[in-house]
Amino acid sequence: MEIYKLAEAASRLHLSANSLKSLLANRTIPSIIRTTKTTKSTHTSYYIPEAFIAYAEKALKLKERFDFTRLESEQDYTEAFANKNGTQVISFSNLKGGVGKTSISANFAYTLALLNKRVLLVDMDSQANSSRYFANRYFSGESIKDIFDAIIHKKKVDAEFINRYIKKIDFGNATLDLLPSELSLGRVVEFSRAVFTMPHKKLNDILKPIKANYDFIIIDTPPTTGLSLHMSIFASDKVSIVTDAEDFSVNGLNELATEIQEIEDETEHVVAVDSFFINKVKKSNIHQVYIEAIAALAIEQKIEHVYTVSDSVRFKEAQNLHIPLLEYKNEQEKKFVLSESLIDYAIEKAAGA
Ligand SMILES: Nc1ncnc2c1ncn2[C@@H]1O[C@H](COP(=O)(O)OP(=O)(O)OP(=O)(O)O)[C@@H](O)[C@H]1O
Ligand SMILES: [Mg+2]
Repeated sequence: MEIYKLAEAASRLHLSANSLKSLLANRTIPSIIRTTKTTKSTHTSYYIPEAFIAYAEKALKLKERFDFTRLESEQDYTEAFANKNGTQVISFSNLKGGVGKTSISANFAYTLALLNKRVLLVDMDSQANSSRYFANRYFSGESIKDIFDAIIHKKKVDAEFINRYIKKIDFGNATLDLLPSELSLGRVVEFSRAVFTMPHKKLNDILKPIKANYDFIIIDTPPTTGLSLHMSIFASDKVSIVTDAEDFSVNGLNELATEIQEIEDETEHVVAVDSFFINKVKKSNIHQVYIEAIAALAIEQKIEHVYTVSDSVRFKEAQNLHIPLLEYKNEQEKKFVLSESLIDYAIEKAAGA
């Protein structure tokens, strides 16, 4: 992947370095920003992969004109990047634990935010790992569980109420909203089964009043079948299945696909599984065999995208430091390569939306 620094990107775009700098500063063109401080001064470096430049051009439809100055107000800017066909809700799922649902959904949400999309990350797993991924704290008494509690107790749950539970995460070069989870979410969700005739619709009901504020809502789901998963799938337009390249996982994919089909049939709500993320891939023959088996399944089930993500300790390290993979460590080339599938999928969704 070609990665440009400021001067190279400016020449690529036929802009002066200063003009490009202001486009990077106001995030018209996304980038990874690195500041190094010495005792005397602060130096800012910008790293821009080709894909981000191409995306900004496409999103702003300025390929011929390069009239970047058109964006004057905050509103122009939001409108230029807003989804033309409204909010897209995407769940990352698998019935198997530990395959990377949380890592992929959190980093995917960040990548969309980097592409100037308005993004809400919803944690539907009571382990609350994606809540802690960026926020690095627990959310007892201030999570989506409390919203479920409120609807169970027939309280008024409008946008104002829901917004009280949404946390803003500011990365400097992007912002992301988070609707966190907590340990008792599973219990409260299961309790709602006894209270409502159509409990699987309740997450969708919660998202409805705030949906228009976002271009994308990304849902991280638990590794088990149950009402949390069904609610997540019912609320989604697309499901992305995260898996690893192991024997059990390949079999499990069929099971999940069948379950999604059943939910569709039961609820008459169309949810497309549009991608597989094969995560933690190592350079081994056996992994290659499983990747091919998953790719064959994807063709059979008419799943559009199959992405692979390499196994790297950087995922764990970035998560432990509560930062996106793209913001972790200095070697730009390495982290852009590791994130390539996530960037491809984010650009595919963001540019087509
Ligand atoms: N590509 C990768 N290479 C190496 N480690 C990874 C990779 N992706 C994720 N991990 C690590 O694997 C562990 C499990 O990942 P993660 O929590 O994202 O999985 P999960 O599917 O959400 O798990 P759960 O089912 O418990 O919700 C974490 O420690 C994470 O940092
Ligand atoms: Mg998880």
